[in-house]
Amino acid sequence: MITIEDTQQLRNELLARREDGRVAFVPTMGNLHEGHLTLVREAKEHAPTVVVSIFVNPMQFGADEDLDNYPRTLADDQLALQAEGVDILFFPSAEAIYPRPLEQQTRVEVPGISNLHCGASRPGHFVGVATVVCKLFNMVQPDVAVFGKKDFQQLLVIRRMVEDLAMPIEILGVDTVREADGLAMSSRNRYLSAEERAMAPLLRRQLLQLAKKLREGERDTIRLQRDFSTNLGTGGFITDYIEIVDAQTLLPVDEHSRQVAVLAAAQLGAARLIDNIEVVLD
Ligand code: PAJ
Repeated sequence: MITIEDTQQLRNELLARREDGRVAFVPTMGNLHEGHLTLVREAKEHAPTVVVSIFVNPMQFGADEDLDNYPRTLADDQLALQAEGVDILFFPSAEAIYPRPLEQQTRVEVPGISNLHCGASRPGHFVGVATVVCKLFNMVQPDVAVFGKKDFQQLLVIRRMVEDLAMPIEILGVDTVREADGLAMSSRNRYLSAEERAMAPLLRRQLLQLAKKLREGERDTIRLQRDFSTNLGTGGFITDYIEIVDAQTLLPVDEHSRQVAVLAAAQLGAARLIDNIEVVLD
């Protein structure tokens, strides 16, 4: 595996490899765990050349968020990616991605879905995500790119951007990888104290319970959402949002909705945890 910081060097390296076939790409912010590595394995199934990027993207963090504290663990990440047989680690500097001050940078906005749920709690977040992913796509020019369903809304924003801007890239979504007790793996789990870590699986358990009730025919979404927040509150969380939505539009379900996603975000101590569950209604 080679680590490349320079965009021109990345292009040169990929030019030679492209002749051998497709290029698969996994964008990340580093501090890699089994969730990220599962995306890498999926990427390897789809192309002989796999590129992973690590870039902690300032544009997607709010002013009061954890940009400065976000864990940066390059040496460990390199070892993990090497062991997975990744070909290229792209590790650009902030100047390479944003040569101009952030407010003067051209932006990519996917309207509508970007402003719901996580986008409502984190204004500007999905503009930051779409902009950096668009830019990384232009640098890597992959045939296929892999994203996690853990960030369900992010995956939809990316799919919409690729469709709207006619980018010739296949987008793959991978199921959420979890700890043994059900907690979705996340770089932010390290913000949990030992006590909070023991409480954290409640988020998943409450999502499973809500999904079960939906499957059993319960349709009072207001009550389901209220019970969810109450139960999480009892367990030490502060619910940011709990939404029962159409899995394609992310708008509230109606009587025609079949593919449903339940999206949740909640604060536990210093960590903002997100998770979701998909439900097919008949
Ligand atoms: P990051 O949080 O590092 O996640 C990188 C990719 O790994 C995303 O596609 C995310 O959905 C996926 N992922 C994270 N945890 C996962 C888990 N437990 N199971 C499966 N997949 C998981 O998401 C970002 O970075 C950034 O927003 C990025 C897309 C890189 C743009 O800056």
